[in-house]
Amino acid sequence: MPAIKFYDHEPIPMEMHKVKIVQQLNLLPTAERLERMKDAGFNTFQLHNGDIFMDMLTDSGVNAMSDKQLAGMMTPDDAYAGSESFYRMRDKLEDIFGFKYCLPAHQGRACENILAERFVKPGMCVIMNYHFTTTKAHITRLGGHVEELVKDEGLQPQNDLPFKGDIDLDKLEACIEKEGAENVAFMRLESGTNLIGGQPVSVQNFKDACAIARKHGIISVLDASLLQDNLYFNKVREEDCKDMTIREITREIADQFDIIYFSARKFGFARGGAILVRDEALFHSMEDLIPMFEGFLTYGGMSVREMEAMTVGFDESMEMDIISQGPQFIDYCVKQLDAYGVPMITPGGGLGAHVNASEFVSHIPQQEYPSGALVCAFYICGGIRGMERGTLSEERNPDGSERFASMELVRLALPRRVFTLSQVEYVIDRVSGYMITDI
Ligand SMILES: Cc1ncc(COP(=O)(O)O)c(C=O)c1O
Repeated sequence: MPAIKFYDHEPIPMEMHKVKIVQQLNLLPTAERLERMKDAGFNTFQLHNGDIFMDMLTDSGVNAMSDKQLAGMMTPDDAYAGSESFYRMRDKLEDIFGFKYCLPAHQGRACENILAERFVKPGMCVIMNYHFTTTKAHITRLGGHVEELVKDEGLQPQNDLPFKGDIDLDKLEACIEKEGAENVAFMRLESGTNLIGGQPVSVQNFKDACAIARKHGIISVLDASLLQDNLYFNKVREEDCKDMTIREITREIADQFDIIYFSARKFGFARGGAILVRDEALFHSMEDLIPMFEGFLTYGGMSVREMEAMTVGFDESMEMDIISQGPQFIDYCVKQLDAYGVPMITPGGGLGAHVNASEFVSHIPQQEYPSGALVCAFYICGGIRGMERGTLSEERNPDGSERFASMELVRLALPRRVFTLSQVEYVIDRVSGYMITDI
């Protein structure tokens, strides 16, 4: 993104695209929003989209597509087996990541299901920097357990650490020692940690952690669903990356791993997913699972149109101008809200702006779901739908008791290329209003 200067004020984030297709929004009066929220049982997932003004629930499958993606969707090759659309997608992925083998799947959690089915046996452990809800569910469903080894600072709501998603290398060594390398199904690093504020991981940390895994003969897996935001932070926050292109940084990260998977609902501005495998034998050992759970090996549950859109979207994810907009809008939103005294997760990460609900509504005890309450309040006050990222999103213990989340957050996602800065200003106004008025 070019550094555009303004004559009379500090730079603001700029959209490096223009809008060609629009969708009308509806802002209901506050009293009606309250009624809609009651009808939805105070569950924002039950709201109808037509009743929402700013849908900041997620960045998944709702990122704006480009004219080039739509053009690609007009020329797909429709075939059950051997579709050229699949080969184009696979070749593009090989070009970017350097992995020869590709297993298609309909979305990110489908990839996680395949990986868990292949590697996790009862009693085994999967090591992570931090879990994602669906990832963990597949592992525990098969009798495995998850060890989350993000650095302690990663769970502090506010600090200056540029890479709060980094795994703690000492904890990693200790965990392998404790579990025994043969009982570790794989090590999964999430590039851009969804549940703790979209916080990124440094290239150096990827290198160090994968070197430890390699030393112990443990398979390393990258969840690249949020990679595009992570790449932006590698480029702007990591000294060793500042003179590298986004493609070079991507390859440097990919080179560390045995397996990469992703949700193309995020990475690739479309809808779908894939598992990339470096080793031929490892690839063949998972191949049979795709037709069983997803579809034939050249579509994996995806439409050929989506594969064409993904292929273009991967290239777009390698352009700094394109990937900068999300993190820069988020940074702007986080800094403005922070200045108003709204307790935010700082520094801003990828995916969205994250409000620290434990502090915002500190009078609500954790067993009464502070994040769940705050997310409803944002809808009633502003027609803004965020996502609860706290205890309600946690899997319960096997005996049905509550498992309290380590952080109680409300995520205000910024789907890529969707909102304008004036809409972000509206969100800042409504969320901070609580801090600056007596209501
Ligand atoms: C880091 C991460 N991994 C995996 C997934 C699952 O992907 P999907 O929603 O396509 O199943 C998500 C979805 O939000 C995610 O953020």
